[in-house]
Amino acid sequence: MNLSVSPNDLSAVIEADRAHVWHHLINHKGFETADPRVIVEGKGLRVWDARGKEYIDAVSGAVWTVNVGYGRESIADAVRDQLLKMNYFAGVGGSIPGALFAEKLISKMPGMSRVYYSNSGSEANEKVYKMVRQIAHRHHGGKKWKILYRERDYHGTTIGALATSGQAERAMQYGPYPDGFAMVPHCLEYRKQWDVENYGERAADAIEEVILREGPDTVGAIVLEPVTAGGGVIVPPAGYWERVQEICKKYNILLHIDEVVCGVGRTGTWFGYQHYGIKPDFVTMAKGVASGYAAISCTVTTEAVFDMFKDNAADPMSHFRDISTFGGCTAGPVAALENMRIIEDEGLLDNTLKMGDRVIANLTALMDKHKVIGDVRGKGLFCGAELVANRATKEPMDEKKVAAVVADCNAQGVIIGMTNRSLPGLNNTLCLSPALIATADDIDQITGAIDNALTKVFG
Ligand SMILES: Cc1ncc(COP(=O)(O)O)c(C=O)c1O
Repeated sequence: MNLSVSPNDLSAVIEADRAHVWHHLINHKGFETADPRVIVEGKGLRVWDARGKEYIDAVSGAVWTVNVGYGRESIADAVRDQLLKMNYFAGVGGSIPGALFAEKLISKMPGMSRVYYSNSGSEANEKVYKMVRQIAHRHHGGKKWKILYRERDYHGTTIGALATSGQAERAMQYGPYPDGFAMVPHCLEYRKQWDVENYGERAADAIEEVILREGPDTVGAIVLEPVTAGGGVIVPPAGYWERVQEICKKYNILLHIDEVVCGVGRTGTWFGYQHYGIKPDFVTMAKGVASGYAAISCTVTTEAVFDMFKDNAADPMSHFRDISTFGGCTAGPVAALENMRIIEDEGLLDNTLKMGDRVIANLTALMDKHKVIGDVRGKGLFCGAELVANRATKEPMDEKKVAAVVADCNAQGVIIGMTNRSLPGLNNTLCLSPALIATADDIDQITGAIDNALTKVFG
C-alpha cells in the first residue's frame, strides 16, 4: 500500500480525518470551521502539514517524544529487519532486542537491574502501583499500600494513573478514583507556599508532613517527576532531592521516579534523576525511549524490588501476575537500541546541555523586553516561560492570551507548546522541548518566533 500523499489527495485525507478520527485532548467543535492539523512528513527538526506548510517543531511531536528527530532511516531499517525476522511473542518469553536493550539500558542506570516492558507511560506507572500494592500484601502484612504523588505532576491517563494526578483539570470529571493515593505539595519556588531561605528542603519536608498525617506504616511509595513537565516545567530547588531521599529512607518508602518525559536524554543526562544523585527503587520511561518510532515503555526496578517477587516459587500467587500484550512487540526495543546508539554516537547529551543553556539564555534575555515573562526555567532541552499579567503580583496570564502566543508562533512556522488543561487558572507556561539534535540556529529561530509573538499579542 502506498501511503505517500500527493497534493491532490489531501482534502480527502482531511475529510476522512474530520469524519472519523477522534483527536486527543481537543474539542472537536472547532473542526466544523477549521481543518484538523494533519502532519504528513518530518525530517530532523522540521515537519510539513497537509497543506505543505513547513514548521520547525519545538516540542518534538507536540508531547516531547521525538528526541532524535524525524526521518531516521537507521531506526526504520532496524525495525523493518526485526519485524520480518520476529515481530512478536508474548513477554512471558524473551526476544533478542528485548534482552539487548535491557542490558544497554541498565548499563546507563547504575543501581537498577530489571526492565519490565509495556507500551505507554501510563501503563509503566500502573505497573509500579501494582508492584507496590503486591509488596504491601506480601511483605508488609497488608500495610504500606498508599502511594504519594505531588501536586502539579502527571503520571498518565488511566484511572489508576489519574488517581495520582497532581493536575486537577486532567482528573476532573473522570472520578471517583480508587483509595490509597495522597497528594504532597508542589515545589515550585516561583509560586512559593513557604517564606523560607532553603525552599528545596522546606518543600521536601512537606512530604514528611503528609507521611506523618497518613501514618508512615500505611505509605509504601512516592511517585515524582524529576522535572515536572506538563505541570509547568518545574525544576526542583536545591536541597529538595537530598531531603526526599532521606525521608524515603527514614520511613522505608519506595521512591518511584517518573521519567516518561525526562528519560533518555531530554534533560542532558540519560535520566533526569541522574542530575541529583538520587537512588530510585523504580524508574518508568516511555516517550523518548524510542523517540516515537515504536511504542515502548519500561518499568525499571532494582534487584531488591525484583527479589520480592520471586522469593517463594511454591506459591502460585507470589510473582508479578501482570502482562502487557504489546510489551512483547520487538519493534519497541529494537528501535530503542538504535535510538540510544544515535544519542551516544552523535553526542546528543552534550548538545542537549549546550542548547538547553541557549534556550534559557535567550528566554531570559527576552524578559527585559517582555514584562509578561514572569519566570524562565528548565533543564537541558526541556524549558518553560511562565507568562503573567503582572510581574509584581505574579497574577497568571489569561490562558487565551497564552494560547494566542502559541498560535502566532504556529503561524510563523514554529510549533511550541503550553501547559494544557492542567491546572485551573495556571495554564500559563509556554513549553519548549525541541529534538536533542537542535542547533544554535534552530534555537534562535524558535525563541525569535516567541519574541515576535509576544510583541504581536502584548505589544
Ligand atoms: C510525566 C508523565 N508521565 C506519564 C505520562 C503518560 O504517558 P502516556 O501518554 O504514554 O501514557 C505522561 C504523558 O504526558 C507524562 O508527561
